[in-house]
Amino acid sequence: MLRSLFGDGVHFYNVAHRGFSANAPENTLASFALAVNEGANMLELDVMLTGDGQPIVFHDYRLGRTTNGSGLVSRLTSSRIRSLDAGIWFGDKFEGERVPLLDEVLDLAKGKVRLNIELKHRRRDGVNLLVEKCLKAVERHRMSDDVIFSSFNLEALRVLHYNKSHIRFAPLYRHNLVPTPRSFPLRYGAQGVVLNHHFLNGTAVRRFHDLGLTVFVYTVNGRRRIEKMIEMGVDGVISDNPAEVASIAAKVAS
Ligand code: G3P
Ligand code: MG
Repeated sequence: MLRSLFGDGVHFYNVAHRGFSANAPENTLASFALAVNEGANMLELDVMLTGDGQPIVFHDYRLGRTTNGSGLVSRLTSSRIRSLDAGIWFGDKFEGERVPLLDEVLDLAKGKVRLNIELKHRRRDGVNLLVEKCLKAVERHRMSDDVIFSSFNLEALRVLHYNKSHIRFAPLYRHNLVPTPRSFPLRYGAQGVVLNHHFLNGTAVRRFHDLGLTVFVYTVNGRRRIEKMIEMGVDGVISDNPAEVASIAAKVAS
């Protein structure tokens, strides 16, 4: 990394993907708390709006896989969604976990870890409300300098940038990206990119760094893959197992 992303001298981010999602139900307070205790210095969380416009922390557009409910998140109210169990699918000891509000994860992280807030919105249109609500929540917690937003939805990032030009953001890419001055990250002044580990190599990492972009890589699980990414010089590894990333990063650094 050429410079520290948050200007605090930290040069490597151990990013817990949906919390410590290897050992706890993804995107729950239990998962985020475990990640903080096990060495993550950044939490990745997915945020979308409920039918009544509340930003909640949830990955799928449908409730069925990770709760005891069903249907589309965008069709139900936040109170209905928060009456569901979001932990028992993962194991009995997590019974009673709820789908968190964005506010709750901001509370949990404040003063402890940074956040990578991934904006989930299916279409190009209608992202304004999601961006507005997320920015308001972050500002209410005075955490604008502790957050980097990301999204596959470039329109969401564009709206974010036009709302608050100082806020950090990094577009997410499923495939390889050859950056040019006209491509999205440079054109809109992104601080970084979030790349799929399948398409990354050391030359690409250097090229991004030469352009002043921080490189995050997702979703990296397994000792060999994590080692490989750290050796390539990426600035952040997004993994389901932050304890494993912490132990490998310590070994590589020594
Ligand atoms: O931030 C990387 C990763 O979270 C993107 O994919 O589907 O796990 O949200 P997904
Ligand atoms: Mg995500």
